[in-house]
Amino acid sequence: MKHFLKETDFSLEQAQAVFSLAKTLKAERLNSPQPLNMQSWGLLFYKSSTRTRISFEVGVNELGGFPLVLNSSQTQINRGETIADTAKVMSRYLHGLVIRTFGHEIVEDFAKHGSIPVVNGLTDFNHPCQLYTDLFTALERYSPDAVDIASLKGKKVAFFGDCASNMANSWIISAAMFGMEITLTGPETFAPEQIVIDALQTDGLPVNYRFTTDPTEAAKDADILYTDVWVSMGNEVEAAERIEQMMPYQVTRERMAEANPDAIFMHCLPAHAGEEVSQQVLDSGQSIIFDQAENRLHTQKAILTKLSEINL
Ligand code: CP
Ligand code: NVA
Repeated sequence: MKHFLKETDFSLEQAQAVFSLAKTLKAERLNSPQPLNMQSWGLLFYKSSTRTRISFEVGVNELGGFPLVLNSSQTQINRGETIADTAKVMSRYLHGLVIRTFGHEIVEDFAKHGSIPVVNGLTDFNHPCQLYTDLFTALERYSPDAVDIASLKGKKVAFFGDCASNMANSWIISAAMFGMEITLTGPETFAPEQIVIDALQTDGLPVNYRFTTDPTEAAKDADILYTDVWVSMGNEVEAAERIEQMMPYQVTRERMAEANPDAIFMHCLPAHAGEEVSQQVLDSGQSIIFDQAENRLHTQKAILTKLSEINL
């Protein structure tokens, strides 16, 4: 059974097929093939969501399937039913599961004990659907005709803020996988952690990201400036301390000016203007945040279609 729990679950060739398909599905949105015809997909949320929930609910529907949104706190998971039993039971009703949760081992356990494909809709470790969407959105600019992954090679990414977060991990892994150069910048206490190095090594990818506490150094010559909230879901008790420490890493107009003149600004959203990014940058012509948000739909439809083909 093929799952999509991390960026490297697709080969480069399969990733290219996903991006090419996303382009077609975007161009012909209401004329989608129906690979999920007669299927029911569970969308299981342990955490809040706007984009992931809506884009998957709409996307499953547009692919001919029925999306069933489940909040973990309203299931027996909340009263101690094991993941193993839950996965086995859900596999008797559903044809696939998208899960947003805390520990990454939860999506791995669903995949291990169930018999249906599992898609990672964000864990504390990573957010691969967002990353594939971000790469597709960048490709729309770098290679609009072919969305050719070769055009990502050598692109310079600067990631600002919480460099030990799920989004930072996903960017580190994707940069290594697609041959991009990445420099992360934030306070020393939020540097990338061993877990991401282990993940790179497990997948045979180079450990060649750079980390600096100097945001100017990270911005220099960057093609993509990326940031995410400083307080991820689950980190709320540390909010005041995080915001105070990360203030020097806000992406401002001045910071954008240190990068390549044609650099783009990206953010997975939700954004907290005045914290990780200024409102001016969010509103600027360099910002492609709403293209990213829209592309969640098209890219995830392509991911679900590709998984269906592989799992036939
Ligand atoms: N970017 C993202 O995953 O957004 P949501 O938390 O709204 O799903
Ligand atoms: N790092 C953020 C991403 C939200 C899409 C979080 O986990 O809350």
